[in-house]
Amino acid sequence: MTDLSHPASLSAADQFVELRQQVESEFRSRFGRVPSVVAAAPGRVNLIGEHIDYNNGFVLPMAIERYVIVAAAPCSDSSQEHATFYSSDLHESKDIPISASYGPTCSGWGRYIEGVIAGFVSGSCDVPPLEAVIGSSVPSGGGLSSSAALEVATATMLEGIASHQIEPLEKALLCQHAEHAFAGMPCGIMDQFSSVFGMPGELMLLDCMSQEIQTVPFRDEEVSVLITNSNVKHELTGGEYAERRRQCESALEKLGLSSWRDVTLADLRLARSRLTDNELACGRHVVSEISRTVDAAKAFAKGQWASVGELMYSSHESLQKDFRVSCDELDALVRIACEIGLEGGVYGSRMTGGGFGGCIVTLVHSDCADAVRERILTQYENETGVQGSSFASRPALGAHLIKRNCNGNGTFT
Ligand code: GLA
Repeated sequence: MTDLSHPASLSAADQFVELRQQVESEFRSRFGRVPSVVAAAPGRVNLIGEHIDYNNGFVLPMAIERYVIVAAAPCSDSSQEHATFYSSDLHESKDIPISASYGPTCSGWGRYIEGVIAGFVSGSCDVPPLEAVIGSSVPSGGGLSSSAALEVATATMLEGIASHQIEPLEKALLCQHAEHAFAGMPCGIMDQFSSVFGMPGELMLLDCMSQEIQTVPFRDEEVSVLITNSNVKHELTGGEYAERRRQCESALEKLGLSSWRDVTLADLRLARSRLTDNELACGRHVVSEISRTVDAAKAFAKGQWASVGELMYSSHESLQKDFRVSCDELDALVRIACEIGLEGGVYGSRMTGGGFGGCIVTLVHSDCADAVRERILTQYENETGVQGSSFASRPALGAHLIKRNCNGNGTFT
């Protein structure tokens, strides 16, 4: 079974056009005029380098062909002090204050938008009262950065509305700050960077210390990235994430070093009496995952798919046993992919994103992608009783304006 919200028969480009039309038509019927700005920002999948961004190592994500699209126009009543956002997926409307506040007054999805608006206002960018409609094809709660896509799409829309472009790096950091301060999620930089900087045909080897991106070409049509959603989410508060982050920080402090990049597995063994078991295990994951990520980027660039695959399996094992952020359903999905193996067209597989549910990412031979998807989903449902969903994606374009009508007379720039 494929992801039912987006039939496999629709190409990624058709899905995008369909979503854009839905959002624009919802805007017209709710607000009685055409939107002056339409912006899009993608979700992401991380190929390898998990829980490494906030440890200043390397990650290897790509933007995916799933987007949040926001259509907006300023209000006629310029004295209004809020922006109205309507979510066409949740059928819910929120009035979001336009102010430079430091923390959330809204709840739920409104917090991400409120954080981005506050970032613009406190950066001295005028945000006029506006009305907006949001639609999304990024599965929410699946570890594919639907919240980063919402933040970055909102920021890109605001750039269009305010006719004021901010540096892409600054935009990614502003959105990360919104997530920290307004959604209470102490995330790293990977999600917002992927959504801002995504490029078709390229993976991004992101150095989370220097914040520089080295592109890694991934254009071989014979190899596909399959994203399979377990459709379970065991951890909803973000508490486990913050806890892992704290364990990494305290381990590094006890090692007396300022960067995980300077730590070796031998250093960890020598320091074992000073570290708690959990700190030691987290450290083992971080040190080994940084080196796997660098190796995987090299193997990707050379088209050594089986080597990439082995690194993906090791990454999963490390996340399962040492970092302890996997769950039975993700382990089952990866095991099923591994059982299909090279003979069935699977190079490698691992959980992706924060963990405790969400998605796995599997590298497959494109000719086998449909058969692999079918077998994974059937066996997963037989074993767990849960219906998963799955789709393939090529590396996609990052945030962009689809439409901007500067002068209100229908001219697009
Ligand atoms: C979440 C966070 C990211 C990253 C991943 C784990 O998606 O938002 O910053 O830490 O988890 O790799």
